[in-house]
Formats: sequence, C-alpha cells, structure tokens
Amino acid sequence: MGRPLRLEKVIQAFSPDKAIEDPRQFAGRREEIKSGIQALLSPGSFLIIYGLRGVGKSSIALQIAKIAEGDDTLPAMLKLEGLLPRKGFDFIVHYYRGDAFIRNIGDLLIRILFGDEANPSLFALTKSGEHRLEEIREILQAKGGASMGIAVEAAGSKEKVYKTYISDDLIQQFRSILGMVRRDNQHKKGGILFIIDEFDVIPDKQGFASIVKALSSEYVKFAVVGIGSTVSELISDHLSIGRQVHPIYVDRMDEYELGEILRKAEYLVGGRITFTDEAAEEIVNRSEGFPYFTHLLGRDSMRIAFEHSSPKVTLSDVQESLKKLAEGRFGILYEEMYHEAVKNSQQREILLKLFAEHPQDEIPTEEIYALAKEFGITNPSQLMKPLTSPTANRATPVLVKVRERYYRFSDPVFKVYAKLRDWKF
Ligand SMILES: Nc1ncnc2c1ncn2[C@@H]1O[C@H](COP(=O)(O)OP(=O)(O)O)[C@@H](O)[C@H]1O
Ligand SMILES: [Mg+2]
Repeated sequence: MGRPLRLEKVIQAFSPDKAIEDPRQFAGRREEIKSGIQALLSPGSFLIIYGLRGVGKSSIALQIAKIAEGDDTLPAMLKLEGLLPRKGFDFIVHYYRGDAFIRNIGDLLIRILFGDEANPSLFALTKSGEHRLEEIREILQAKGGASMGIAVEAAGSKEKVYKTYISDDLIQQFRSILGMVRRDNQHKKGGILFIIDEFDVIPDKQGFASIVKALSSEYVKFAVVGIGSTVSELISDHLSIGRQVHPIYVDRMDEYELGEILRKAEYLVGGRITFTDEAAEEIVNRSEGFPYFTHLLGRDSMRIAFEHSSPKVTLSDVQESLKKLAEGRFGILYEEMYHEAVKNSQQREILLKLFAEHPQDEIPTEEIYALAKEFGITNPSQLMKPLTSPTANRATPVLVKVRERYYRFSDPVFKVYAKLRDWKF
C-alpha cells in the first residue's frame, strides 16, 4: 500500500499561478517545442514566442531554456531526442523578464550587462570580470554623466541616464564583452542564449531589431516572449532583422493537451487519485483552451476527492469546484477584477456578461448594444466608460479597442472568468 498520499502532493501536482518549470508537469505543445529545438539548431536565428495572455508562452520558453542548457527530459518525453545534437545542447542561458525598471532597450542592455536577481552579469562570465566592469562603468559614466553603480540597483533616477546609452559605443562594448565571454568559456560550445520574457511590457522598444541584428551570431542568440496576436504586434520592426526570424505562435491549448495536464497531475500523485472521464471532460470543457482553469479546477476537485478519501475525482466534485468559482470563493485576483468592473451597477454587470458571453475575441459593440437594449439598458455606450478606462488599481482597462466599434478583453482569461462567475445582481 505504501505511504499515504499527502494533501501537499495534491496541491503541488497543479500550477495555476506559475509557468511550468518541471518538464514532468509540462503538457502537450509538441510542435512548439519541436520548433524551438529547430531554432536552437540554426545559428544566428532569432526566436519569437507570441500569443494571447495565459496560453502558456512562458512555460514553453522555460522548457526551451532547459533544453538549451542540455536537459533532454522533455525532448525524450515528446520523442524528439532525434532532433538534438549528438552531445546535446550546451548553451549558457540567461532568462530576463520585462519589468517596470526596463523602460527601453538601453535599459535592457544594461540589465543584461550588469545582471539581475536571476542572472549574473556578463562580466561574471569573463576572466577579467570585475576589472572590466569598472572600465565600462566609467565609459558609460563619461557619456551619461551619472553613476552607473547605483543605477543598477536603484530605480527612480536611472531613466534619463539610460536613454542616451544605445549608442554605437554601448553596442561596441557589448560585442567585445560577448567576445570575451566566448573566449573564456571554451567548454560551453553552444553559445549564449538571451531569453527576454514579457517583452510586451517594455514601453519603448525602439532599436531592438537593429541590436538583435548587430549582436546575433553563431555564438549569440536572442529569444523574445510576449503577448501579441501577430509578430509585429510584439516587435514592430522585426522585418529589419531579416530572414533569420523564427516565430512560434502559441494558441490556446486543445482539449487533448488540457486533458494531459490532468493526467500529469495523476502521475504526480502516484495514481492515488484519478479523474473519472466525465470529471476530466467537464474541467477541460470549462477551461476553453486556458490551462489556468484546468489547473485551478483540477487542483480543487482533486482536493475534494482527497478529503473524501476517494481515489476518484467525480463529476460532482468538479461541479462543487465550479460552484465555488461561480460564487467567487477562490480568493483569486479575477474575483477582485470582477467586482471592480461591475461595482454596484447591475447594468454594468449585464454589459460585462454580454461581452464575456460573446464567442469571438474581437467583439462588435453594435451587437452587444442591441442585446443590452433588450435588457432595458437605454444608453450602453455611456456604461462602457468604466470598462474601457484604466482604474486606480489597474492600468489596463478590462476592454480594449481593437479598431472602430470592436473591443476585446485585455485579459482573455478574465473573459472566461466573467462567464463562469455567477451574477452579483
Ligand atoms: N504546457 C503546459 N502544461 C501544463 N500547464 C501549462 C502549460 N502551459 C501553461 N500552463 C499553465 O498555464 C498557466 C499560464 O501559463 P504561462 O506559461 O504563464 O502563460 P503565458 O506566459 O502565455 O501567460 C500557468 O498556470 C501554467 O502552469
Ligand atoms: Mg508569461
């Protein structure tokens, strides 16, 4: 019989809030991973991973990072080992995330040069290391006239200083450091891979394409990950990079892939609790292609089965979890968003629900307004304001205009949530 299953195991078998690091938890996406491996194989290629929010871009990027470092767990699981180089990949991988301190591409280069919590500075990869770091600091200082030392850790003041830095000088310096990294890391034949996630949040991306072009080589590879329904939505000047661009579009997950999330979880709890077919089907259908809901509902319903000491998650367990979601009892961020969007107005809730129920991503306002009138809303366009404007808590409004008379949800996961959520009024 072995040791009893612990609740902790059930909880850890799901990951609603974090991108997947452990390849054993990574479901589906064979084509995307295959494409990623091909990009790693082609020298000087530039990888772009793009798609809607919440579909699994970061998870794919994390797996590609692992593969690039030489971990063949996932390729083996996906039967893609045949594509790997004979001795495996051995890239040095640095994985950055766009954040509030990276305002432009100059900031990004500085971040890469000097490192962050997740990555050592590039100098750390060279023998002359610190000495050289001082030198560069001085050069950059002379140009900008401010201290780089504090700029690396302190936020506020660095903005105007960095602006001037995407000079040829910086690129020259960067190149020469990359040359040193290569020289001093002969054992790492694969080269260096820079992955920049949440690239979409960098406000000013100007100059990025030319930098990728100038710095990419058989030794240096860039990958960019972020929200966009087209490549140019993520990187407007990508055409100037040329033919080495390697795009991977990440779509919603299909039903088979979502089902696999549940099977992986069953595996991780040692098969002690499994989902009945109807239970799995219900979770997958309600997820509408977004793995978030599969993890959230899968975890909660498996917890319910655990608490009943049952080896099976049944349809009624799943329905109990769905009820909890519908009543806003999960304590998740989307619940707050819902309240903020609806406030104390029943009419606003009707409008929000109508948008959420619409089957398309890009929603024609005319259609919604016509329906709203049937619900007795006389002036729907006036009610749109709060849904389409930023609030004190949220810079991005719930609905964003795509073109004249069409809106989409800024967060498609919230669209599904707003649909699953019960009426407040
Ligand atoms: N291939 C996958 N297998 C299992 N879970 C996944 C997979 N891709 C994404 N997820 C889950 O879906 C959620 C969103 O994934 P994430 O990679 O952060 O998406 P994105 O970067 O596109 O917003 C996370 O909870 C993550 O654990
Ligand atoms: Mg992400």
